[in-house]
Amino acid sequence: MSASAGKPSWPATPPPSFARDYLARRGVPAEAIQRFRLGYAPDAWDDTVNWAKSKGHDLAVLERAGLVVRKSGEGDHPDRLYDRFRGRLMFPICDEQGRVIAFSGRVLNPEQEKFGGKYVNSPETPIFTKGRVCYGLDKSKRALLDTGQAIICEGQLDLIACHVSGITNVVAPQGTALTADHCRLLKRYVNEVILCFDADTAGQNAALRALDDLLASGLAIRVALLPAPHDPDSFLKAHGGEAFRALLSRATGFFDYLLQRLCREHDPASDRGRTAIVRGLGEQLLKTGDAVLLDTFANKTAQRLGVGVEAVRTEFKKARRPEPVRVETEPAEPTAAAPGSADARVLAVARPARPRKPDRGSPHPS
Ligand code: CTP
Ligand code: MN
Repeated sequence: MSASAGKPSWPATPPPSFARDYLARRGVPAEAIQRFRLGYAPDAWDDTVNWAKSKGHDLAVLERAGLVVRKSGEGDHPDRLYDRFRGRLMFPICDEQGRVIAFSGRVLNPEQEKFGGKYVNSPETPIFTKGRVCYGLDKSKRALLDTGQAIICEGQLDLIACHVSGITNVVAPQGTALTADHCRLLKRYVNEVILCFDADTAGQNAALRALDDLLASGLAIRVALLPAPHDPDSFLKAHGGEAFRALLSRATGFFDYLLQRLCREHDPASDRGRTAIVRGLGEQLLKTGDAVLLDTFANKTAQRLGVGVEAVRTEFKKARRPEPVRVETEPAEPTAAAPGSADARVLAVARPARPRKPDRGSPHPS
């Protein structure tokens, strides 16, 4: 591998150690690689297809599991199946029992990131619904029960970095907003969540998108604010586990966070700004139906804005009433991975490289 000025370039034929080197650079030790069963999907169109054939697995099952993709043939040409994950660091996604039900693959070639997307994930399949799976839950269960608290971060590498630092009560919804199903799943283990999303706007908006379902679930919500431009992984690398724990211990209650945020977004010195802040907070507070919380924040808001508490209470009441909370049935238990499905194919980083095709990088096989 050629590396210039600390910036690794993508070799013509990446050696099998390439994924391991990448993980080493990102500070993921061997124990974590094993524990999270990280692997590497070789940069070829037919590696998985050939592997399945050699093992006698039914390609139709692999297609349903999302491991291979069908390309319709034109005219007399038959359909072709090709590998979904190519040249990617592979994160198996497990159900609550630790059975592999899907994958997320991170691009290793930085050039490819520009047009192929940083992550490719398994599609929804009979055994995988993204909105129902919390990444890492199978490994965090014990710590969740022990602490009664779930730290929610966005991505796989954030979660793994937490584990490496000895913080194990963590789950990751993998870049999507928390759903009602996620919340119900978590409620079985904890009473409180600490949202620890990226410092960027998308991360902060993710904190808000999750709100309705979180409030409906009855989970207590706190928000840990990471200084920009960090996510949990980069913060841990830069400042270490102790600093991260301190940041978690300073996590504020959700409504304190919301009040702060509204005061940043609207000018508390203007009449219009004050009204927007009070209404914005009132709208969310009313969803809780919690009179004590409403009263507490009527006082806090009045103090923060320098207005009378009765005025705040009146404005809270004017805030739009929310839709009634949806009542849903319990999510179905995920079924066991069928033989020859995703579970049958956890790639080992140490897996030997296979010959590669020169058209690596183009989005579809020729
Ligand atoms: N994600 C995804 N598809 C994308 C981008 C992101 O599924 N195209 C999910 C992944 O689970 C990812 C999470 O959203 O881990 C957060 O995305 P991002 O912050 O962009 O990535 P990081 O987790 O920070 O990954 P890395 O540190 O490797 O850049
Ligand atoms: Mn990151």
